[in-house]
Amino acid sequence: MTDLFAPLTFRHGPTSKNRFMLAPLTNQQSHDDGTLSDHEYQWLTARARGDFGVVSTCAAHVQASGQGFPGQLGIYDERHVAGLTRLATGIKEHGALALVQLHHAGLRAPTELTRTTPVAPFDDPKSGARALTTDEVEQVVEAFVVAAHRAKRAGFDGVELHGAHNYLLCEFIEPLRNTRADRYGGSFENRCRVFFEIIDGVRARCGDDFHLAIRLSPERFAMSTSDVLELYRRLVDTGAVDLIDLSLWDVFKEASDENFLGRKLLELFTAIDRGDTRLAAAGKIYGAADARRALDAGLDLAVLGRAAITNHDFPRQTRDDPDFSMRALPVTEETLTLEGVGPDFVTYLRGWPDFVAEVGGVGA
Ligand SMILES: Cc1cc2nc3c(=O)[nH]c(=O)nc-3n(C[C@H](O)[C@H](O)[C@H](O)COP(=O)(O)O)c2cc1C
Repeated sequence: MTDLFAPLTFRHGPTSKNRFMLAPLTNQQSHDDGTLSDHEYQWLTARARGDFGVVSTCAAHVQASGQGFPGQLGIYDERHVAGLTRLATGIKEHGALALVQLHHAGLRAPTELTRTTPVAPFDDPKSGARALTTDEVEQVVEAFVVAAHRAKRAGFDGVELHGAHNYLLCEFIEPLRNTRADRYGGSFENRCRVFFEIIDGVRARCGDDFHLAIRLSPERFAMSTSDVLELYRRLVDTGAVDLIDLSLWDVFKEASDENFLGRKLLELFTAIDRGDTRLAAAGKIYGAADARRALDAGLDLAVLGRAAITNHDFPRQTRDDPDFSMRALPVTEETLTLEGVGPDFVTYLRGWPDFVAEVGGVGA
């Protein structure tokens, strides 16, 4: 049995004091220009204080045109550095490893926010997105690298590339729609090239003492599980990546890709020798027993989303009580406020099914 409180080393950057990672969670609490607000600072530093070993920010956009949400944290401009510096300092003060999730919303970037046509690897009539030119793809790669360096200058220990959920990096992997004729589309190598160019750039510019994680969606979002498994193997082989964070939505689910029916999705990844690249995953880890089971199933880190929203100190409570479980949903606004969730985040959470109790309804 793996100990949830055993430290975890990485190839690059500092050690995590335990096996709990705060999932990247969009909270819509930043100012309109992407600079940090006090509410976002309080939300994240409370999780560091609650003993999460790794604390990730929400998805932070690396280009203005890549904004996916109102109130999104920005990392595309020098004006963001002061707030990011305050945030990195506040997270690290509690002994947590501090990461920024780097993001470009691609075809999911709303024009109302960006005031420009969304971009993607291909034309997408449904969203109105247009295909990036080759020069523009090179600019996207550079924007991710510059943002990583900005995170480093602000004092973050590392970054996570958001390669999941049908945002821009994930769209490049798509086998059916990314049929670009340049070096960024068509063959598997070409569809994954942006990842490797960003990784090379981050390592060259941010050095060896900088943590680099990558989040992937192994199914849904037009992904082929076989492609994502092959990408995983190649990422491990680079020796440049510290952590692969699988967004599973249920860590213990069975694969839905028809080539892997009847197999546990996570097992497809744990069966591959990953050397000292670490593996994390998020999805329905709601109690201490789920976290232990996730580690026993081969994960190095348990990534918590909803349970970290309802319980800022889930790791600490788990250390005190091996049967600890997150608060039952829905929770009241009052409880969320006590947990360091600001009003704009509460409003966003009202859009998630059965999360926030309606006034007069049930909830703890
Ligand atoms: C409110 C909310 C915001 C989220 N924002 C992000 C995000 O910014 N980036 C990301 O990669 N995933 C995001 N996710 C997905 C979570 O990181 C996580 O993978 C998912 O919630 C499943 O974990 P859970 O079952 O512990 O909640 C979000 C999920 C929620 C509920």
